Amino acid sequence: MSSTINTVAVLGGTGNLGTHIVRALLVGGFTVTILTRPGSTSPRPSFSPYTVPFTEVDYSSPSSLRDAFQGQDAVVSVLATAVVQEQKKIIDAAVEAGVKRFVPSEFGVNTRKAGIEKTRIGELLAGKRGFVDYLISKEGDGISWTGLSTGLFFDPVHVLSNGLGGIDIKNGKATIIDSGTEPWPASLRSHVGRAVSEILRHPDLTRNQYLSTASFNVSQNQLLKIVEELTGKKLEVANVSSKDIFKQGEEKLKRGDYSAFVEFLKVHFLADGAGNALGEEESANEKLGLVTEDVRAVVKGYLEGEGLLAA
Ligand SMILES: NC(=O)c1ccc[n+]([C@@H]2O[C@H](COP(=O)([O-])OP(=O)(O)OC[C@H]3O[C@@H](n4cnc5c(N)ncnc54)[C@H](OP(=O)(O)O)[C@@H]3O)[C@@H](O)[C@H]2O)c1
Ligand SMILES: *[C@@H]1O[C@H](CO)[C@@H](O)[C@H](O)[C@H]1NC(C)=O
Ligand SMILES: *[C@@H]1O[C@H](CO)[C@@H](O)[C@H](O)[C@H]1NC(C)=O
Repeated sequence: MSSTINTVAVLGGTGNLGTHIVRALLVGGFTVTILTRPGSTSPRPSFSPYTVPFTEVDYSSPSSLRDAFQGQDAVVSVLATAVVQEQKKIIDAAVEAGVKRFVPSEFGVNTRKAGIEKTRIGELLAGKRGFVDYLISKEGDGISWTGLSTGLFFDPVHVLSNGLGGIDIKNGKATIIDSGTEPWPASLRSHVGRAVSEILRHPDLTRNQYLSTASFNVSQNQLLKIVEELTGKKLEVANVSSKDIFKQGEEKLKRGDYSAFVEFLKVHFLADGAGNALGEEESANEKLGLVTEDVRAVVKGYLEGEGLLAA
């Protein structure tokens, strides 16, 4: 049986990340189908000049899933974090339909990193980690898998407007965690799309592996410096300690508020000594033929678009 992958079904292809993956798969020459929930209110994106069929699937129905997976060489799950628990049924149906490769909805923290299960973020990601364990347990059943960690999404609109990057250009403020010198891995969503496309273009090279990628590693202080240079304006800096952020997360958890994920995510990547930049030996960029992108160019493009570049 040939291991070549031609047909790909994407679950969550209407989402924040999914649209980028679908576009990259189309550019990569795959025949793509987007699976969507009956009654989904997600806007259907345009992939012009490509067109993509949408197939409605009831994720609670094994037969509906099996039908949708017939003839698909690969299934890529880009489902929202809140619904990743649906993936067990989805994996079972993929095995039954003879799907060759499954890519689970990871796309963030490396959930396989040694010791991660003992950290708060690792506890909150136990579900995601469990699906990779489940895929590993299915390796003998004809299906293979590839997981991909990406670090934080570097959407300039988000990172530079008081999102996880802590920089808030419009209000002239920056919230710096600890010394601000810790490097963390960041990926443009378009980069993640290319990574998935390359994974499926090289199924033998990527079989049954958990890979990590990033567009670049960057620290808060590097971002701050780039923004200040390019806008010609100093930002007002507030320092916060990662210990305090961790405490805020703990308090939220006590109240059953799982938005604490954001606090633990900041501690995981941005705290002094976090050590979660993508290591050179750990990076799959070379394997996948992906380039390191230039953070300054990305920020400059955004600022230019917003009319915020210094004259
Ligand atoms: N590294 C980072 O910084 C970062 C940031 C954000 C997300 N992520 C990860 O990326 C992955 C995708 O996240 P995303 O932000 O792209 O997700 P999203 O846009 O919130 O949702 C993706 C798709 O999931 C489907 N969906 C939503 N609610 C659902 C429900 N209740 N039941 C079934 N399907 C539902 C929708 O598709 P339909 O409406 O078409 O059915 C939606 O378009 C996740 O694993 C997430 O953890 C990582
Ligand atoms: C506060 O943030 C600034 C800017 O990043 C940094 O240079 C400084 O070292 C930080 N202060 C402390 C006490 O960590
Ligand atoms: C940082 O990120 C890039 C991704 O562009 C990776 O390939 C590189 O090896 C990383 N690590 C270091 C220590 O530079």
